Amino acid sequence: MNRVIQEIPHYLSKKIADLAAADPEVINLSIGEPFFGPPGQVEKRFAAFIQEQISRGILPNKYAPSRGEPSLRLAIADRYHRLYQLKPNPETEVLVTHGAAEAIWLSVLCLSEIGDEILIPDPSYMLYETVVRLLNRVPVRIPTRVENEFVLDPEDVKAAINDRTRILFINSPENPTGAVYSREVFRTLGTMAEMNGFVIVHDEVYDGFVFGQPHYNLLCEASWPPYLVLINSFSKRYAMMGWRLGWMTAAEPVISAALKVHTNLTLNLGSFHQEVAGTLLNDSEVEQDTITHAGQIGRQLTILYEALEAREEFHIAMQPKGGFFLFPDVRPYYQMLSREWQQKYPTPGEVVATHLFEKHKIAVVPGYVYGPAGANHVRVVGAVAAIDIERACERLQNQPFTQ
Ligand SMILES: Cc1ncc(COP(=O)(O)O)c(C=O)c1O
Repeated sequence: MNRVIQEIPHYLSKKIADLAAADPEVINLSIGEPFFGPPGQVEKRFAAFIQEQISRGILPNKYAPSRGEPSLRLAIADRYHRLYQLKPNPETEVLVTHGAAEAIWLSVLCLSEIGDEILIPDPSYMLYETVVRLLNRVPVRIPTRVENEFVLDPEDVKAAINDRTRILFINSPENPTGAVYSREVFRTLGTMAEMNGFVIVHDEVYDGFVFGQPHYNLLCEASWPPYLVLINSFSKRYAMMGWRLGWMTAAEPVISAALKVHTNLTLNLGSFHQEVAGTLLNDSEVEQDTITHAGQIGRQLTILYEALEAREEFHIAMQPKGGFFLFPDVRPYYQMLSREWQQKYPTPGEVVATHLFEKHKIAVVPGYVYGPAGANHVRVVGAVAAIDIERACERLQNQPFTQ
C-alpha cells in the first residue's frame, strides 16, 4: 500500500454527515450542501432535453468531447465576458472537470513536480493540502489571522516564497473562515506571482455568496494574467453537487496539459447533463434565483452568528464576509468542560465538536481539518434549511451548555 495514502485520513465532514443522518434528532450543520435545490428552471430544462433526445433517437450514449461539450465551454467563456469583459477562448482556455475537486488535482499535477512547494493559507479548504501531499509535493501553510479577517498578509506570503514555490492557493470567499480577498490584496499577490514565477490558483466556488462587499478576482485588473488559474463549479451557486460539473480556465499551455491528464484519467465526463448546465450560466432568471439564495444564506449566517456570539462558550471575532460557514473559536467552551472531556481528543475543536454532537445533537466539523491554525475552532454551516437554523438557535439558548 502507498504510504502517503495510508497517512491521509478519510474525508471527515462526510463521515460526520453520515453519523448525523442516522439520528433525526441531530441538527446537521456539518456539510456544505446548500439547502436550496437547483434553480427552478433546471428540472424542466433537463426533462425537455432528455425528451427531445429520445424523440430524435439520439440519447447521449456517445463519449462526450474530453474538453467538455462545446456549448458548455462557450457558456463558461461568455460568463467571464459578461462579468469581467474578458473572454477566454472556449476552444483552448477552458476545461470542463469533474467538479472543482478535479480542477484542484489537475492544477497541482500540471503546474508542479514532485518536491515542489505549494502555498496554502492556514486554515483553508482541506482538499488543497490532501492533494498536494498525495502528489508528493510539499504543502507550505501560511497562517492567517482574525485581525486580518483571515485574509493572507502579503508579507507572510513573501516570506514563504523560495525557488521551489510553484502555486499559491486562494479560496475567496473562503471555506471555512468566510474570508473575502480585496482588490488590493489580489493586486499585491498578483505582482508577487509575476515576479517570482508561481501561479495563483483561485478557487471561486463560493463567488455567488459575498455579503456586503463585491467578489474580486484578478480579472478585475482588466487583463487575463498568465499566472492565473480560475476554478469554479455548479455545486454551490447552483446547488447541483450531484451533477459533478466544474471547470478551470487558464492560459492555453495549462489547459492543454490539464486536458492530457483529464483524458487519461476520465476519458471524458457524462454527456447527458452538460448542455443543460450550460444554459444556466448566463440566464437572468437563474441569476435572480441565485441572488435570492445568497441573500437567505447571508441572513441565516447573521442569525447563527448572533446566537453564537450571545454565548460565552464561543468566541466569534468575525462575521463571515462570504461563503456558507462560521468559524468560531471554541476555547472558552473547551475550558468549561471537565478534564475527562478535555483529554478525549488532541485539539479543543475536536473535543467541542464531539461534545456538541453527543450532548446537544448539533453536528459541526472540528477546525483542525482545515489546517493546524484551525485547531481551536469548529466549522458551522449556515447554508442549511431555515428550520434547522431555528432549532440550532433554540438549543444554543439552553442552559447549562457544557455539562
Ligand atoms: C472551497 C471548495 N472548493 C471546491 C469544492 C469542491 O467542489 P465540487 O463539488 O465542485 O467538486 C468545495 C466543496 O465543498 C469547496 O468547499
